[in-house]
Amino acid sequence: MTTNSKDILVLAATGKTGRRLVPTLRAAGHRVRAASRSGEVRFDWDDRDSWPAVVRGAKAVYLVPPADPALAEVFVELAVEAGVRRLVALSGRGMDRYDPELFPSVAAGERAVRGSGVEWTIIRANNFDQNFDEDLWHAPLRAGRLALPTGGVPEPFVDVRDVADVAAALLTSDGHHGRAYDISGPRALTFAEAVAVMAEAAGRKIRFEELSPADYAAEQLADGLSEEAVAEVGSIFDVMRAGHLADPADGVRRILGRDPVRFEDYAARAAAAGAWS
Ligand SMILES: NC(=O)c1ccc[n+]([C@@H]2O[C@H](COP(=O)([O-])OP(=O)(O)OC[C@H]3O[C@@H](n4cnc5c(N)ncnc54)[C@H](OP(=O)(O)O)[C@@H]3O)[C@@H](O)[C@H]2O)c1
Repeated sequence: MTTNSKDILVLAATGKTGRRLVPTLRAAGHRVRAASRSGEVRFDWDDRDSWPAVVRGAKAVYLVPPADPALAEVFVELAVEAGVRRLVALSGRGMDRYDPELFPSVAAGERAVRGSGVEWTIIRANNFDQNFDEDLWHAPLRAGRLALPTGGVPEPFVDVRDVADVAAALLTSDGHHGRAYDISGPRALTFAEAVAVMAEAAGRKIRFEELSPADYAAEQLADGLSEEAVAEVGSIFDVMRAGHLADPADGVRRILGRDPVRFEDYAARAAAAGAWS
């Protein structure tokens, strides 16, 4: 790999946000290192020998925090030593209100960029629309039943295209240093409403079922998830049921000067691509 001090390093470049961010940056004329274990540039959090080459000479980094909370700070120190001058970290909505122990990896990512000594910005995003077609809730929806412990609290789901556009703006424009932006979709929907929108878009029956937290944990354990994973996902719903994430945030409009993607538009696009058929 040739080094170039104009490069922007995108971590988790094959993930839901990274794989939209990379082409967005390139379309705007920026040089990008798209890094992950299977990405264009090999980067593995579990192999420190893979770190120096990806950061050397890069000017900015999109940081999706590693699962191991001990690694973010060490990585950021290395990146800054290597010349990185701007860091944009992906985080979750409400991270300022909760015990960092609930989501240790995301909290460690926030701490690492705050302590970096260079320009930093944090993106605190609500739950992604794409959790319904690219992640956790895809298989249950295809099977026709999504059952979750939401307490009926609505969620202003955000499209990862908006997250990527926001990240691109923060990585490439000035005036965002030291800020944490809340990013959400334009309106909050209950999961029951969201499932109804997706079912209609897909032209088939899919039902939503409200579960107690204990029943949800039992279902997940029966599905083979580890106790650790079950506890982490359970914490996400604890936080959502408290209602602190339910109001739409204005981050997309403040940064991009446009409204965020509507859930109905996301659902129509995903259904047309066959997500829930
Ligand atoms: N889902 C949500 O609703 C939501 C909301 C707010 C915040 N977040 C935050 O979003 C983050 C996840 O971002 P995302 O959804 O864009 O990614 P993602 O779709 O979960 O994909 C994970 C990415 O990490 C890479 N990766 C996994 N293990 C790696 C390793 N050992 N070394 C290097 N790269 C590795 C994967 O690529 P390879 O397999 O090629 O390595 C992939 O690109 C999490 O921190 C989560 O807390 C999520």
